[in-house]
Amino acid sequence: MYLTYSEVRNLYIYLISTLVHVNSHICSEPWSLTVFCRVPSCSDVQAELDSVEAELELVELQITELLQKQTELTGRKDALLQRLEDVCDAAQPSSSKSSGAHPVLSKQEMRLYDGIDFPWSKELEQHLKDSFHLSTFRPLQLRAINLTMSGRDLFLVMPTGRGKSLCFQLPAVCSKGFTLVVSPLVSLMEDQIMYLKSIDVPAVMLNASSSREHAKTVMAGMTDPKAPFKLLYVTPEKIAKSKLLMSRLEKAHNADLLSRIAVDEVHCCSQWGHDFRPGDQGNLTNPIHLKFNSVYFILYNYKLLGILKRQFPNVPLLGLTATATSSVLKDCEKILCVPKPITLSASFNRTNLYYEVRIKDSNYDASISDVASLIKNRYKDQSGIVYVFSQKDAESVSSVLQKRDILAFPYHSHMEADDKSQVHRKWTSNKIQVVVATVAFGMGIDKPDVRFVIHHTISKSIENYYQESGRAGRDDRQADCILYFGFSDIFRISTMVVMENVGQQKLLQIVDYCQNVDRCRRSLMSVHFDEVWDDEGCNQMCDTCRHAKDYTTVDITQHAKQVVHILELAASADEKLTPLKLVDAWMGKGPAKRRKMIHTTTLCRLQAEAVVVMLLLQGYLREDFSFTPYTTYFYMKLGRKAPLLKSQTHTLSMKMGSTGTGTAVVSNADHIYQTYVRLYLIEGIIHRVHYSGDQRRSSEFIKF
Ligand SMILES: Nc1ncnc2c1ncn2[C@@H]1O[C@H](COP(=O)(O)OP(=O)(O)OP(=O)(O)O)[C@@H](O)[C@H]1O
Ligand SMILES: [Mg+2]
Ligand SMILES: [Zn+2]
Repeated sequence: MYLTYSEVRNLYIYLISTLVHVNSHICSEPWSLTVFCRVPSCSDVQAELDSVEAELELVELQITELLQKQTELTGRKDALLQRLEDVCDAAQPSSSKSSGAHPVLSKQEMRLYDGIDFPWSKELEQHLKDSFHLSTFRPLQLRAINLTMSGRDLFLVMPTGRGKSLCFQLPAVCSKGFTLVVSPLVSLMEDQIMYLKSIDVPAVMLNASSSREHAKTVMAGMTDPKAPFKLLYVTPEKIAKSKLLMSRLEKAHNADLLSRIAVDEVHCCSQWGHDFRPGDQGNLTNPIHLKFNSVYFILYNYKLLGILKRQFPNVPLLGLTATATSSVLKDCEKILCVPKPITLSASFNRTNLYYEVRIKDSNYDASISDVASLIKNRYKDQSGIVYVFSQKDAESVSSVLQKRDILAFPYHSHMEADDKSQVHRKWTSNKIQVVVATVAFGMGIDKPDVRFVIHHTISKSIENYYQESGRAGRDDRQADCILYFGFSDIFRISTMVVMENVGQQKLLQIVDYCQNVDRCRRSLMSVHFDEVWDDEGCNQMCDTCRHAKDYTTVDITQHAKQVVHILELAASADEKLTPLKLVDAWMGKGPAKRRKMIHTTTLCRLQAEAVVVMLLLQGYLREDFSFTPYTTYFYMKLGRKAPLLKSQTHTLSMKMGSTGTGTAVVSNADHIYQTYVRLYLIEGIIHRVHYSGDQRRSSEFIKF
C-alpha cells in the first residue's frame, strides 16, 4: 500500500496518540512502529500545497463576504442611530446639547438659523433679489449664510451646482470690508469674478500671473475703509508664499476689514479619499497632483492654509466642497486649524431623479434605435442629453437621431469653440431637443428643465455617473436617468482608464451597479457619498425598487468551470482571449479544433456575458492589458480565485433578472413565461429548465 505524505502524517499522529494511551494504561514497554511509505514526490507536495492554498482562498472569500455584510449592517446601524438622534432632538429642550465655547448645535438649534429675523436678514433679502437676481434660497443656503454671518466656522458640503458660492458671495456683500476667498484654480476664479462683475459686485484676484501694478492696487485696497472690492480671490500659493499679502491681511484684520475667509474646494486640504497618481508624495517640496472633475490640482499649498486661522482666530472660516467624506473633513479641520466647525451637509440624494439600467443591444445600430424610440415616445418634445463614449459616437448617434426626425446635435472637445457654444446656446433656449455629447459637455451646464439624461455607454465611475446624470431635473421636477449597459463597453472604458490610479476599481464598481438586480440603485450609489439612502428614501424612483425584486438566484458553478477551462486551454496554447473571443469560444464559435476540446454553453449570449462579468467582479477572472504605441488591448486571464473552482465543495451563484441577465428589464411575455416556469418547477411538473440561445421560450427546451 502506498500512502501520501499527509496520510502518513495523520496515521502517525493517530497511532502515537493511541499508543500513548495504551502505554500508560497497560504496559511500560516502549512500542516501535515501522511504516513503509513512499517518499513524497514533488508533485504530491505541490498538490497538497495547492489544496491548502485553495482552502485559504475560500476562507478569504468568506472573510470578504462577512466584511461586506459588516459594512452593510454598520451602514444600517448608522442610519438608525441618525433616526434615533433626530427623534431625540425633536423631543429635547434646545439648550441641552450645548457645551464649550463652540458647541455642536442640536437639530433644533440649527433650525433657528433658517430664520429671517436676524439683524442682517433684510439686507440679505434685498441683495439676493437686487444684486443676485434670485427670488428664493435653495435648501441649506439660508442656514449656512446665517451661521457664517453669526461668526461661526462652517464646512458646507453640497452637491455640485447647488449654489455653494452664494453662501459666501452674499454674506460678503452684506458685511463690512472684504471676504478672502481661497480657490485652487485660476479658471474657477476667473469664472466667478466675471459673473460677479456682471452683477456689479466688485471682486478682484491675486495669483502668480498678476501684474505688479494690479497687485499694488489690490494690496492698497485691502486696508481702504471704503472697501473698493467685496471679494478678494487668491490661490493657496499666494497665502503660502507672499509675506506681503499676509502682512496686508494682518493690517486689514486690525482695521476690522477682513470679514470672512472662504476656502473653496476645501477637500483639497486633505490627501485622503482621492485618486493620486502613482508615485505622488505628499510633502511640501513635491506637490501632489489631485484629480477632481478631471482636473489636476496642485495641492501642497493647501496644507499651509492653517496659518489663516492661527493668525485670525476670530474671523469666521467657511469651507466649501462637493465631495468630502467625514474622514476628509476631519483632516481638513486639523489642517485648517478650525476647532469644531459646524458641518452642514446637503444630501446627495436627488429624490426627483428616476434611475434605470437597461441592457444595451450588442448591435450598434439597434442600440441607437432603442435610444431614438425612447426619445420619440417617452420624451417627445422634452429636453435632454445623450452621453456617448467618443467623439465618433457623438457624430454617429446624433446623425441617426436626426434621421429619425429628432433635433439632436453633437458636442465634443474636437469641435470649434464657436460651434460648441452655438450648440450649447441653442439647446439652452430649447431650439435643439437633444445634445449628444462626450463628457466634454459638463462644466457650466446649468439648464433647469432637462427631463432625461441617457447614457448610451456607461460612465467610468459611479461618481462620474452621479455627476453626469445629475444634470437632469435641476428644477426639482421629475426627470429620468437611463444607463445602457453593454458588455463590450466595459472593456472599451477599461483600456481608457488603465493608466488611472484606481481607475479599474472604480469602473468595476459601476459595472457592479449595472449588474445588480435586487438592491435599490440609490442605496448602491449612496455608499460612494458616505451617506445611507434606503429603499424608503428612494420611494420607488429606481428600476429595482419599482419592479419589486424580480430575479432568481442561479447556481453558476458549472458555467464558471467551463469558462475557466477555456482560459486554461488558451493559456496552454499560448493564446490570449479578449472578452468577446472568450464568450464566442464558450458559445461554440471559433476554430473547430478548440470547439472539440471545450464544453460549449447552453446559455444565451446575454446570460453568458453576465456570467463572465460576474466572474470578473468576483475575482475569478481578471484583466490583462497589452500595450502597443497606438492602442491598448484587453484580454481575460484567470483571477486569484480561479483555483477555488477545482474544489468539489466550492459553489458559486448569481442573481439574474427576468431576462436571465444581470439587470432586470422585463417584457410582458418574459414575465409570463418566467412565472409559469417557476410555478411548474414548484409543482414538480418541470424538473429542469434547459436554456438554449434566445429561443428559451420554446417548449422543446423545457424538459418535463
Ligand atoms: N437660490 C438659488 N436659486 C436659483 N439659482 C441659484 C441659487 N443659488 C445658486 N444658484 C445658481 O446655481 C448655479 C450653481 O451655483 P454654484 O456655482 O455656486 O454651485 P456650486 O455648488 O459651487 O457647484 P460646484 O461644486 O460645481 O462648484 C449658479 O448658476 C447659481 O446662479
Ligand atoms: Mg463652487
Ligand atoms: Zn430604489
